[in-house]
This record gives sequence, structure tokens and C-alpha cells, in this order.
Amino acid sequence: MKDFRDSAQAMHNQLIAWRRDFHQHPEIAFQEVRTAGIVAETLVQLGLEVQSGVGQTGVVAILEGHHDGPTVLVRCDMDALPIEEENEVPYRSQTARTMHACGHDGHTAIALGVAHMLHQQRAALRGRVKFVFQPAEEIAAGAQAMLQAGVLENPRPDVSLGLHLWNLMPVGKIGLAAGPLMAGSAIFTVELEGRGGHAAAPHQTADPVVAAAHLITALQTLASRNVSPLETAVISVTQVMAGDAHNVIPSRATLKGTIRFFKPEVRELIGQRFEQVVQGVAGGLGCAAQVNIKDLTIPVVNDAAVVERLRQGFTTFAPEHEYLSADIQTMGGEDMAFFLEQVPGVFFFVGSSNAERDLHYAHHHPRFDFDERALVIGAALLASAVSDYVLPA
Ligand code: NI
Repeated sequence: MKDFRDSAQAMHNQLIAWRRDFHQHPEIAFQEVRTAGIVAETLVQLGLEVQSGVGQTGVVAILEGHHDGPTVLVRCDMDALPIEEENEVPYRSQTARTMHACGHDGHTAIALGVAHMLHQQRAALRGRVKFVFQPAEEIAAGAQAMLQAGVLENPRPDVSLGLHLWNLMPVGKIGLAAGPLMAGSAIFTVELEGRGGHAAAPHQTADPVVAAAHLITALQTLASRNVSPLETAVISVTQVMAGDAHNVIPSRATLKGTIRFFKPEVRELIGQRFEQVVQGVAGGLGCAAQVNIKDLTIPVVNDAAVVERLRQGFTTFAPEHEYLSADIQTMGGEDMAFFLEQVPGVFFFVGSSNAERDLHYAHHHPRFDFDERALVIGAALLASAVSDYVLPA
């Protein structure tokens, strides 16, 4: 592994300039036209082979080495969120109700920085680096769009790497763990159909509101009484809709919510039991039910061998950081999972909060912002990680 800390430090101003420019001009899922344009232009100027419009607004760029060797995929996401920014900073979002509130502006800047730093080393490069700038992570659609567009073909990567700036950890801490890191997620809708009527004559109705109430409670038993206590699962009912009047029992009720899990077999089990519980409870109370579960992401699972390789390199070349492997799992989702499913690799967290400077709001908060020192740290570590595969030590 090569030490890129000095090169990254030399790019400090450029990294911040890119990040602040993207921050001022945020674009939501599949609308990252300006961002993708700047990314493509920057990489073309660098001399990389660039392909735009991959999976709608995605960009793929290949840095080809002078010697044969493996292909390393570097993935970052580019999209913002439909949030009105509440930060009063010079680089505040200039677009109403749109904000980089997850740090993807920083990810895009870091990946551009990594491309620059590795480009400087291209004479020694053995193999190639495939940079993937992905759209629409926030709606869990961009990774699959790029995969369907063939992002893993010609050449097929041997390892995939990515990072997330992480405000749940202070700057200087790095989260690097093998196995499941972020949860898989699905959303559900339950439509209950009963028989409405006068609220004063409930015996003449089949009340979908009462059925919904029983269901909300019964669904809690999927996690507590079906999934093993040693496994992890979340089932949250987040929307309850029924009725229009004080004195009318409605005919219909709708429940919506989310399911989170770390293992496919847990997702499978929840899916089966979900249907059985809904049909049993609703049927027992005289209502018909329709269940729709839509999968969004699979769990982000890091390859143990790649994690160990990076840990050894990172702790040797950047011992000043604190590397955490425990208590960094999150039930949040990330569609990097789809790249890691196809090509083993690592997604790691780069601590980015700084409470003293009030840079500690959670991701997706209207006051989210991060300590920009994390840009240099992230770029150095990501370039070093790539170098371990394609550059002589
Ligand atoms: Ni994010």
C-alpha cells in the first residue's frame, strides 16, 4: 500500500472547492446533470476514458495502467436530497428545497481527488481503476440502474471500494468492519378491506380500523417471536390511514412501513410470517387483506479478506486515525450493497463530525454539515486502498 496522505493534503483546497461547488448546486436523484457534467469534464481533461449517461446520469471513467493487472472499482454517489438547507454558510445550497444533506457532495469530490492522485502515478499503475459516479442513491435506484447498463462489463472489476462520510463519528475515526455493515431494506403496504357502517352499530360492520390496530401490535411479534434473538430485524409501521368522520366506520384502512434486516434468510422469514400474520389477524376480524412488500436494498456486506488487507495497510500508513470495527453497524440502507454483492470489496465510514464547530447534525438533517478535514482523510485512505491492488508498494 502506498501512502497518499501528502498528495491528499496537497489537494486540500481543490477538494474543498469541488465539494462546496457541488454543495451549492445540489441535484436530486437522476437529475445530477450539472454534477455529472463537471465530473465527466474533469476526468476527460485528466485523460481518462469517460462514458456518460450510464444508468441515466451516471458517469464511468477508466484510468488505464501501463502494465497489466487487476481492475479496481471505485464507487461514489452524487445525489442530493429534497430538503431545505438551514445552514448559514457561504456555500449554502442555492437551490430551493434541495440539499446535500448526506455528504454525497464530499464523496464526489473525494473520488475526483482519488482519480487525480492515481493519475499522477499512472506510469507505475498495474491494471486499471474504474471510477463509478452513481446517481440516485437516496432512492436506492442508481446502483441497479448502472448495473443494468452494464457497469461491471468490459472490464469486470476484481474488487469494489467505496466510502461514506459519517457524522455519527468524529473526524479522525474510521469505521472498517467485515460482514454486514448496513441493513437491507424493504417497504410494505397492507390494504385492509372490511365492511363500513354507522359507528353506533359496529356489530353490523367488519371494522378495518380495529383490524389495523390488532395488526400493528401483531406485526411487532415478527421481530420478537419469529426472528431469532441473536439476529437483527426492524419492522416499523409508519403510516396508518383510515376514515373520514367521527361517526362512520370506514370500509378500508391502509398501513405502510419499513422492514430492515442484515441477512437474506431473515428477510425471507419476515416476508412469509408477515403474510400469514396479516391474513390470520385480518381474516379473524372479518376483513380481507392485501400485502405488498417491495424490496429496496440488500444488506451492505464487506468482504473479510479485503477488510483485513485494508486494515493492515491503513494502520501502517495512517496510524494517526482510530479504526473502529465494533458498534458501527447501522440499520440505514445503501445501494452500494448491489456492487458488493457482485464484486467483493469494502464500504467504509470516514468520521466527519466536529461537535465543537457545531458540525454534528445527523445525515438528512437540514443543518447537516461536516468537518472538511474528512475530505483529505477520505481521499488519502481511498487512494491508498486502491493502490494496494494496482501500485507497487
Ligand atoms: Ni448517503
